[in-house]
Amino acid sequence: MDKKNIQMSSNTFTALVVEEHTENTFEQTVKEVPYSFLTDHEVLIRVHYSSLNYKDALSASGNKGVSRKFPHIPGIDAAGTVVKDSSGTFNKGEQVIVTGRDLGSNTPGGFGQYIKVPPGWVVTLPDGLDLSSSMTFGTAGFTAMYGVKRLQRELISPDGGPVLVTGATGGVGSLSVFFLARLGYQVCAATGKMDKTDFLKSLGASTVIHRDEVTNVKSSMLLSRTWNGAIETVGGAMLDAVIRQTNHDGAVACCGNILGHELNTNIYPFILRGVSLLGIDSAICKMPMRLQIWESIAELSKNALPEGFIKEVKLQDIKPEIDAILHGKQVGRILVKIP
Ligand SMILES: NC(=O)c1ccc[n+]([C@@H]2O[C@H](COP(=O)([O-])OP(=O)(O)OC[C@H]3O[C@@H](n4cnc5c(N)ncnc54)[C@H](OP(=O)(O)O)[C@@H]3O)[C@@H](O)[C@H]2O)c1
Repeated sequence: MDKKNIQMSSNTFTALVVEEHTENTFEQTVKEVPYSFLTDHEVLIRVHYSSLNYKDALSASGNKGVSRKFPHIPGIDAAGTVVKDSSGTFNKGEQVIVTGRDLGSNTPGGFGQYIKVPPGWVVTLPDGLDLSSSMTFGTAGFTAMYGVKRLQRELISPDGGPVLVTGATGGVGSLSVFFLARLGYQVCAATGKMDKTDFLKSLGASTVIHRDEVTNVKSSMLLSRTWNGAIETVGGAMLDAVIRQTNHDGAVACCGNILGHELNTNIYPFILRGVSLLGIDSAICKMPMRLQIWESIAELSKNALPEGFIKEVKLQDIKPEIDAILHGKQVGRILVKIP
């Protein structure tokens, strides 16, 4: 890399680095990292904001299903300015967003001052968002909006009945509630944190139920037709229960695996009710859809998020937030300010 072109004051940059000390013992430290640590891609970006997602917490705690090699810089989200692009796609100084792809998984991610990525991963910051607000949404908001768009494509309309959101106080869940409500849907939020009922209502939920109400159900192949659609962020037994409760021609968008990677269900919701199961992969989402999703997020970001929804933290203060997200205790979104 031509270090003169990025006008660095030193040969290192600051990042949160995860290191493996002994097998299965991982430590997160904010430290100086040589620029040679970055993967050799075309677009060099100075990161100003990132955000914390469940996947970042897995990577930061040494989950090798997410990040194979350590030392590693997590951060699947980054918003910043282009320093240099040898592909000629982006101009120096352009404000851009990178979410998903391999960023923060096995490519050094947004928890550092610089990232280097291929141009195909980079999105120009849409009108209506600034660097900080784009990361308020980040991958969580992107995934939520992707789920909304998949439901819309299945003709799940606001006048068709309630739409369920599970894991509702989490990143994807809370922003799913927010987007669906702003689009006129009647949203039922399922949560394990009933003390956050007011918070979920301030996001736009019409009703709030305990998540056990969804899962503590009979083992019948089909259950009462309760949901017109769902954004299901938890997986496992929750996903199975939601599928069996979904109405004729309804659709369930699924993205999460917090309760495990297996899905034990039966065929009848699909062949007797025409229920659609819609997979969401925000990391690989193709560019035309990616741009549409960011445009829709920018449009709906004109509506204010409730007070207290966003907590801004510095890199060195991220550890307790990682622990909270790993234990299902996080509420709303963590915006990470990069020094
Ligand atoms: N496929 C994709 O493209 C994609 C993209 C982003 C995220 N994801 C996945 O989606 C999931 C959610 O991500 P996130 O960033 O929103 O995570 P998050 O902020 O940690 O939210 C997860 C929420 O799930 C609920 N939950 C936690 N433990 C639970 C349990 N044992 N049983 C039932 N519910 C539980 C909690 O909400 P309540 O307390 O309100 O119930 C928690 O806040 C993760 O699995 C993540 O990897 C996938």
